[in-house]
Amino acid sequence: MECPLYEKIAKQIEQQVHEGIFLPGAKIPSVRKSSKQMEVSVATVLQAYSLLEDRGVIKARPQKGYFVQENQLQALPLAKITPTKNDGSIHALLRRLLHASQDENIIQFGAAIPKSQFLPIRQLQRSVGRLMRLEPEICAAYEFTPGSPSLRRQIAIRMLDSGCQLQPDDITITLGCQNALMLSLQVVAKAGDTIAIESPAYHGVLQAIEVLNLKAVEIPCSPSTGIDLALLESAAIEWNIKACIVTPNNQNPVGATLNQQARQQLIDQSITHNFTLIEDDVYGELSYADRRERALKADDKQGTVIYCSSFSKSIAPGFRIGWVVGGRFQTQIEHYAYVQSLAIPTLTQTAIANFLENGAYDRHLRKTRLAYQDNLARCQALIEEHFPAGTQTSSPKGGFLLWVILPDSINAMTLHTQALEKDIGVLPGLAFSLTAQFSHHFRLNYALNWDNKTDAALKELGRLCQQQIQPQTPQQIQA
Ligand SMILES: Cc1ncc(COP(=O)(O)O)c(C=O)c1O
Repeated sequence: MECPLYEKIAKQIEQQVHEGIFLPGAKIPSVRKSSKQMEVSVATVLQAYSLLEDRGVIKARPQKGYFVQENQLQALPLAKITPTKNDGSIHALLRRLLHASQDENIIQFGAAIPKSQFLPIRQLQRSVGRLMRLEPEICAAYEFTPGSPSLRRQIAIRMLDSGCQLQPDDITITLGCQNALMLSLQVVAKAGDTIAIESPAYHGVLQAIEVLNLKAVEIPCSPSTGIDLALLESAAIEWNIKACIVTPNNQNPVGATLNQQARQQLIDQSITHNFTLIEDDVYGELSYADRRERALKADDKQGTVIYCSSFSKSIAPGFRIGWVVGGRFQTQIEHYAYVQSLAIPTLTQTAIANFLENGAYDRHLRKTRLAYQDNLARCQALIEEHFPAGTQTSSPKGGFLLWVILPDSINAMTLHTQALEKDIGVLPGLAFSLTAQFSHHFRLNYALNWDNKTDAALKELGRLCQQQIQPQTPQQIQA
């Protein structure tokens, strides 16, 4: 028997909530509006809304309308160490969240994008200008995969700092690190396979897994020690994982850096349990220590590591230049890269190669890392002073991302919604997992031009958190 119309409508709205079209705490269309939109009677919509209320999906507020229950996303299954298949809801959620990150008027604590003062824009401007003046034919030339030989040579030279001895031919240029990760997943796994990921994980990894129809096992990743290797080992035994995507340096979002022993253990596990390590080193050059950490790839004797990185966090995210060192998968990666995009922009590859060649990069990195350390100290002090008691923060040793763990009772999605109304962007923890376990966490980008406005915005975030614990009286709201 076909289900009644009001039930179909309820199902449709529930799906929209699940996909993040209506976020927790958001108002859904009024009964009258829905009745018009869907061309059904007001009575039918009322019946659908009352069914959704019974199911705990929405809540009526007298005189105000219907709102999505705050704990909606927390109702998703808590599957910390069970393969989970993304149902697309992460994508819908992120599209909304990242859209806000494009808005110039918003203080961008949300996106992991450095403000342009931390990028060598002026040098790049000169370099691109000179190229266009002296070599305009560059626009007519394809730089076929694997990419510019001079850029690959410069990358091979830079990677000596990470302990890797490479030939330019070991390297394929990609469209950013995201493209490198995607290509790596494509060559190591097929639809339905299981991949171990850090939890919380960079959201681009969750989306890649979704698009490729893979399953993810989320392995807890602590801000101080990184991925839990004992749990990774059990997952490898239990789930026949094909690969593990790991960020050994300055992990996004928790900022963890693995110690040398953990790195070796990780490589040993990949050999013993026959899985590939996909190393995401996009923040590797931003370590605050004098010397950057060694890459996993540097100690990869059996070819179980694929190394991925880019210049997006340190030179120019808009140039979209990344690379992959595929080891025994290199030929296949190169072929896939060629089929997918034929070539990578000639102009941006050449501009970056020239910038690396002239030696200014290390100076630029030194300056930037010092500025990030100052901003981090400022951020941590403000959080300590203005956020509710019990708030914890990570202690990154590099990069520009801070992971903030609020007291359990605070909903970071509500914080995100309320902050956005005040032109402050933050990325809530729900964006970093296929489960709802990070509901009182958020990530904060501190690669910002730090001034009084930024101070005030961070204090405001603290106030919004305090407010969730101690709701304001009507008099306070009016004031
Ligand atoms: C951990 C991590 N990997 C990969 C990427 C993607 O980098 P790209 O912009 O070079 O594609 C990001 C971007 O935020 C990231 O944080």
